[in-house]
Formats: sequence, C-alpha cells, structure tokens
Amino acid sequence: MPVSEALAAVDPRLTEAVRAVRTLLPRVPQVGIVLGSGLGAFGESLEGAVSIPFSSIPHLPRPTVAGHAGNLTVGSLATVSVACLRGRVHLYEGHAVRDVVFGVRLLVALGCRAVLLTNAAGGIQKGLAPGSLLLVTDHLNLTGQNPIAGPSYRFVDMTHVYDVELGDAARQAARTTGVSLAEGVYAGLLGPSYETPAEVRMLRTLGADAVGMSTVLEAIALRALSVRVGAVSCITNLAAGISGAALSHHEVEQAANAAKHSFEALLREWVTRISVMPEG
Ligand code: HPA
Repeated sequence: MPVSEALAAVDPRLTEAVRAVRTLLPRVPQVGIVLGSGLGAFGESLEGAVSIPFSSIPHLPRPTVAGHAGNLTVGSLATVSVACLRGRVHLYEGHAVRDVVFGVRLLVALGCRAVLLTNAAGGIQKGLAPGSLLLVTDHLNLTGQNPIAGPSYRFVDMTHVYDVELGDAARQAARTTGVSLAEGVYAGLLGPSYETPAEVRMLRTLGADAVGMSTVLEAIALRALSVRVGAVSCITNLAAGISGAALSHHEVEQAANAAKHSFEALLREWVTRISVMPEG
C-alpha cells in the first residue's frame, strides 16, 4: 500500500511514517478516530488491538498534554477496522500547523476513508452542562492558521466540512444508545490560555456553541483530502464567565473521564453504523 502521489505531494514525510507502521497493523484501517483530552481509553476497547507509540512513528510529534497517551491503536469494532490516535498535538504546544495535522494525514495514508474527531470543549450554548456531548455541525477556525496554505495551495469548498451522512449516523447512534447529543458550531482557538468572559460573549455573538483548542485544522486538512469528517465535543466545563468558576485542565480531564461511558457507547454505535454506509 504505497502512499498515493497526492498524499506524498501534500507531505512527503508520510511515506516514511507509513513504511514504519503498516507492517505492524493487523488490518488496513477503514475508520480513523482522534481521541481528545481524557477520551483516550476508547482505544483499549478495540478487539485484537495493536498499539504503536507515537515515539516509534517517524515525524509524528509526541503530545505533551496530560490526558493524551500518545499511541496509535489499531483494532476492530464489530466488522470495522479502526485506527485511533490516542492523543494529538496542538498549535499551542509550539508545533507548526503541518505537524498538528500530520496524525490525521497519516490515518488517511494508512487507508481511513472517514475520520471522527473528538475533543474536550467549553460549552457556550444554553443548556449544555459538563458531561454533555455535542455533534459538531460546523466550525469557526479562529486559530489564524490553515494547514493547506503554502506554495501548493488549492481552494477547497468548506460548505459541508462535517459530513452530512456521518452526522445522521451520529444522531441515529445517539437514539439507539439513549445518549443525548446536542449539536452546534465549534470555535477553534489557538490557546493555551482559556478565553476571557468577553471573548466568550464575542464567540456566542459569532455563532459558537462550544469552544476548544483543536479539531478545526485537522478537519480542514481532511476535507482537502476528500475524506469524510465527523466530530463530537465532550463538554467538560461551561465556557469562561458563564458560571463564574475558574477553569483548569484538571477539571477538563476529570469531566471527560466522567462522560467516558456515554461517550464510548455513542462512539461504538457510530462507528458500527459507518461500516454500513456507502463510500463517500
Ligand atoms: N476553552 C477552550 N478549550 C477548552 C475548554 C474551554 O473552555 N474546555 C476544554 N477545552
């Protein structure tokens, strides 16, 4: 399975990374999942799972954030072959944008035709409480960066970044599992400072329902490769100023951990439904 010319042109480093990984994989993965802060345990529930530390994958940067394991785990869920990035890197860790999206491009290079992005986020939409799950239907990229900018840029349509059919599959999965799933717009900011209350009011005015420091760059990189993208946020806290409480990463991790069961149930059912979707 050589890296396609198109992918090698996007980032020539993918060829070496794929070469290092593919012989270790039990199967070619069909669905990729990026597990955000505190959500990495999902990878452990895959059947026949093989885990490869990020440190043994050339060019894949290692996460420094607590709650991000730093493994690529490949295994099966029912009949679907799944590759999970357990942990990701962020712009705020000082990485270049091409490094931030290297992991999701690697998932595509390994064979994934749909990628589900998960994250921890602050809730802005009324009614969201810590532990709520939110299907991302659109985003605001407020990072000031774009992974497809550069000498070989192309203009890419962003009307449906988050795949409509994957969204429907997530809604059905929520009904089947009895997990309540809000929907809305995710605002992706640079971080690492959390927002001020004034910024949260601004984000609400701009149409944001949740705010975080990841996902948008990965979604753009995937969309540019015509890969189906789905995203779910685990609301770990009310965004700054809404409750008046101070925000901490520890609280974010704890809340993500508390939501683990509903999150995993939803994700399992969602992935199973994707296996029966026609190719996009
Ligand atoms: N803001 C930004 N990122 C986050 C938040 C937040 O409130 N919660 C979890 N990640």
